[in-house]
Amino acid sequence: MRRRIIAGNWKMNKTPSEAVALVNELKNLVNNPEVDVVYCVPAIDIVPVCEAVKGTNVKVGAENMYIEDKGAYTGEISPDMLVDAGVSYVIIGHSERREYFGEDDEFLNLKVKKAIEKGLTPILCCGESLEQRELGITMDWIRMQIKSGLAGVDKKDVANMVIAYEPIWAIGTGKTATSDQAQEVCKGIRDCISEMYDKETSESVRIQYGGSMNAGNAKELLSKPDIDGGLIGGASLKAEFGDIVNA
Ligand code: PGA
Repeated sequence: MRRRIIAGNWKMNKTPSEAVALVNELKNLVNNPEVDVVYCVPAIDIVPVCEAVKGTNVKVGAENMYIEDKGAYTGEISPDMLVDAGVSYVIIGHSERREYFGEDDEFLNLKVKKAIEKGLTPILCCGESLEQRELGITMDWIRMQIKSGLAGVDKKDVANMVIAYEPIWAIGTGKTATSDQAQEVCKGIRDCISEMYDKETSESVRIQYGGSMNAGNAKELLSKPDIDGGLIGGASLKAEFGDIVNA
């Protein structure tokens, strides 16, 4: 049985002091030993948030990282820095990184491999635009993102990672995919991994849904057999996040 994983993606929100206040506000609300709870936070919040979650069930994730160990890459954060600070997960290939920062599948594949090499668990994001959905090429697009993103990754590492299916049209729009739409794609991702590796690997990888998930729709989405958790943006910044964890 796959363990549920509910991750907050704080995006570019919360100063360090606000971040600590939020962690403290959520502390008792997210205390559910049956679920992996992760806060993916802005780089500058990582150190204070790691400190603030000490002694709780919450793990900390980064929203991004660079593909090199160290050196002349002004403004970037290395995986070793994340690990040393206490980070366990890293979001890779969020649609906002792809769209605003030009990150392509080839570059994201390097990030996935680097994260794994350093012992970080990648949360690899994929998702189609509204145009692609209307053209009926959702699954073709997602399969391409998955195959490129995982190219050359060992099956034992794939088995331990997390994939987040986030339809772009549902992110931050209040327009959630129906649970059937989300299930269909999450199953498609699992089938794709089964073809690339084997059934055992595909049964082990955890697949999240993301895109306007909230306390009202989480239970229904999480009831689907191939949806193992959620990647939550807006609703992760308030007490509502606790309701999603406990859904
Ligand atoms: P949202 O964002 O929950 O605000 O739609 C999800 C995400 O971008 O990860």
